[in-house]
Amino acid sequence: MLELLPAPPVDPLWDLAAEFAADPRPERLDLVLGVYRDHTGVTPVMAAVRQAEIRLAERSDTKEYLGLSGNTAFNRAMLSLVLGGEERTGRATAVQTVAGTGALRLLADLVRQTRPGATVWISDPAYVNHRPILEGAGLTVRTYRWLEATGRPDTAGLLEDLGAARHGDVVLLQGCCHNPTGVDPSFGAWEELAGLAETNGWVPFVDLAYHGLGDGLDADLRPTRMLADRLPEVLIAVSCSKNFGLYSDRTGCAIVLGSSRQTLRHVETALQNAARTLYSMPPDHGAAVVATVLEDERLRAEWRAELDVMRHRITANRADLVAHLRALGQEEQARCLARQKGMFSMLPLTSDGMRRMRRQSGIYGTASGRINIAGVPAHRIPFLAQGIATALQTPRAARSV
Ligand SMILES: Cc1ncc(COP(=O)(O)O)c(C=O)c1O
Repeated sequence: MLELLPAPPVDPLWDLAAEFAADPRPERLDLVLGVYRDHTGVTPVMAAVRQAEIRLAERSDTKEYLGLSGNTAFNRAMLSLVLGGEERTGRATAVQTVAGTGALRLLADLVRQTRPGATVWISDPAYVNHRPILEGAGLTVRTYRWLEATGRPDTAGLLEDLGAARHGDVVLLQGCCHNPTGVDPSFGAWEELAGLAETNGWVPFVDLAYHGLGDGLDADLRPTRMLADRLPEVLIAVSCSKNFGLYSDRTGCAIVLGSSRQTLRHVETALQNAARTLYSMPPDHGAAVVATVLEDERLRAEWRAELDVMRHRITANRADLVAHLRALGQEEQARCLARQKGMFSMLPLTSDGMRRMRRQSGIYGTASGRINIAGVPAHRIPFLAQGIATALQTPRAARSV
């Protein structure tokens, strides 16, 4: 039977990661995957997480099944972390998921169950997994503009495209630190989006994977909370992979705001049923860690301080890269990078340009031009700037703008 299987496409990101691993050059730089690395190049276990793990190891006396919604203390803690006050959490329900990806998929299933054949709008460019997840759930995908050729947010294009989204459509928006571009709309543009959703009746679906790594936790969550205040229904996929450093523990949750308690009960059961047929229930460890951190005042403060350190390191890396690019005469590119936020930056290079940068300098980013700013040890920034400048100096045909 299995010989009938056609050759499936290989995931391009993990393919590049494998190419990097096989590259013998000691100076090579891996900026492919979205993981934070500290100044020594290590993705650390956060101190607050470590302490929570020790507590859990000492106190846990069972590994009994939880329930289909996962760890309920975690769900409560995430509702309050993401939404803030009771006026929002009181209109919401949360179900623990297998990380942000699991939340995206369960919420996509919820949309399909509610409105088979619904259209979901995603940004162009989008997080590489958005389209496959949504189409995998049987939904139709359309795109809206995100970025001007100059590297600025394309607010006019975004609003014009989403002006065509209709009642019953769903619009997937990254809440902050857009992957892959690092470019976010202004808060004013977010408010205009809320106005469009109110007028035309589409439902915002917010993907939160980098909150705390842009302008700070509350500032990064402000657009999501504003949408929650203004609209009757909002879907939110939350990942704890980056801001708790729990990448391999697959921790996240699906949050839904709805207009009645009964609707929310139906939503919770639909999400549980979707999970039941995929993996029954999510693993507990990461969620138990997050709940322990968030419920303990001291651990919570420690986690927030560590998150700020991570954010400042990313900001400092980007500022340093901008300064080095300026010194190398790359003013236009430096200005673009200076506007970006969060883990990623987008270089104006085609996939050929990115391949050449890989060959010439051993600097690995994705084919779309994305590099992970959080993955560069500070002392390697001059090397990175030089590699980018060399790639940018090659013929214009290999550049994307
Ligand atoms: C925008 C965005 N959403 C969701 C995810 C999923 O994260 P995870 O499933 O690792 O929590 C990622 C991961 O890189 C992402 O960049």
